[in-house]
Amino acid sequence: MHIGHIRLANRLFAAPMAGVTDRPFRQLCKRLGAGYAVSEMVTSRRDLWNSLKTSRRANHAGEVDPIAVQIAGTDALMMAQAAAFNIDRGAQIIDINMGCPAKKVCNKWAGSALMQDEPLALAIIEAVVAACAPHNVPVTLKMRTGWCHAERNAVRIARAAEGAGVAMVAVHGRTREQGYRGLAEYDTVAAVKSALRIPVVANGDIDSPEKARSVLAATGADAIMIGRAAQGRPWIFREIAHFLDTGEHLPAPEVAQAKRWLLEHLHDHYGLYGWDDAGAGVRSARKHIGWAVRALPGGEAFRSRMNQIETCETQVRAVTDWFDELADTHHLLPATSAAANDACIEDEPFEKLA
Ligand SMILES: Cc1cc2nc3c(=O)[nH]c(=O)nc-3n(C[C@H](O)[C@H](O)[C@H](O)COP(=O)(O)O)c2cc1C
Repeated sequence: MHIGHIRLANRLFAAPMAGVTDRPFRQLCKRLGAGYAVSEMVTSRRDLWNSLKTSRRANHAGEVDPIAVQIAGTDALMMAQAAAFNIDRGAQIIDINMGCPAKKVCNKWAGSALMQDEPLALAIIEAVVAACAPHNVPVTLKMRTGWCHAERNAVRIARAAEGAGVAMVAVHGRTREQGYRGLAEYDTVAAVKSALRIPVVANGDIDSPEKARSVLAATGADAIMIGRAAQGRPWIFREIAHFLDTGEHLPAPEVAQAKRWLLEHLHDHYGLYGWDDAGAGVRSARKHIGWAVRALPGGEAFRSRMNQIETCETQVRAVTDWFDELADTHHLLPATSAAANDACIEDEPFEKLA
């Protein structure tokens, strides 16, 4: 699997998720089997580039190649400048966000709202490709199936994007109108795949090795992209890789191993957001801990307790003790019910995060 001239380790991608796929989380996904992970979106607004939020998002120190940065915006020139800004900071691939339904983005006519204005979408794509070409940086596009059910124009936009020099397209099998409701459909993804020569990536509701295999078969896609199902379960990538290679399931991770992964993630997380008391590190780590424990026995109660903890050291101690206690009764992570996992996925405040 290639994106332009860049070869990827495999065809399992971590989806960009604002407020989630920061560098520490991307690193973890890559360590646990993702061949590719896209950054949270970085705004094209120059006045925000020096903000703490954007400078954290544009920090790729130590990140495993390839470094892929998603940019979001509504103005072709600003998007071209944002591409150049991120290339200067280490981006090796630039991804254009045409998939995000968050109001904060769409009210400014960015994200998936761009699918409603095809000439503007194409102008942005052309400007970004032109800005990236001198640096030999491939441009990719992340989109939905269309604006609304009656206007599923993904094939038309994808064809135009390919013509403009885009190197890969990822399609989330929902319309903008759907938000995250209903089920992802893969017929439109399959139609995009058959219309293009560049790689096409299928995205939406892939949450198990079986689902990964069936989506690959149904769409003919070159790769799959996983978002919410990796929250709290980043090892899903190696589970899927193993299943696609062998047709067999990996055993669940050992509780002790899951604890080590989470603690390593937390240390990396505090490294980016700060170890200071009552700082961003301890607060923003809560959601990752919550996802990791919520569907496990006693996890819900621990999650509430966790939200009262105000220092990184106490948070680390509490996580360690909780997993050690779980390890007294379980060697492997106990199977989680689909319903519990669905609950984790459904109630994320995406619009706030993006
Ligand atoms: C919390 C959250 C944040 C997201 N942020 C972005 C984003 O910044 N850019 C983007 O293109 N899509 C974003 N998405 C959409 C995901 O990349 C993905 O397309 C969607 O979640 C469907 O895949 P899934 O069913 O595997 O989660 C976000 C989704 C979630 C849940």
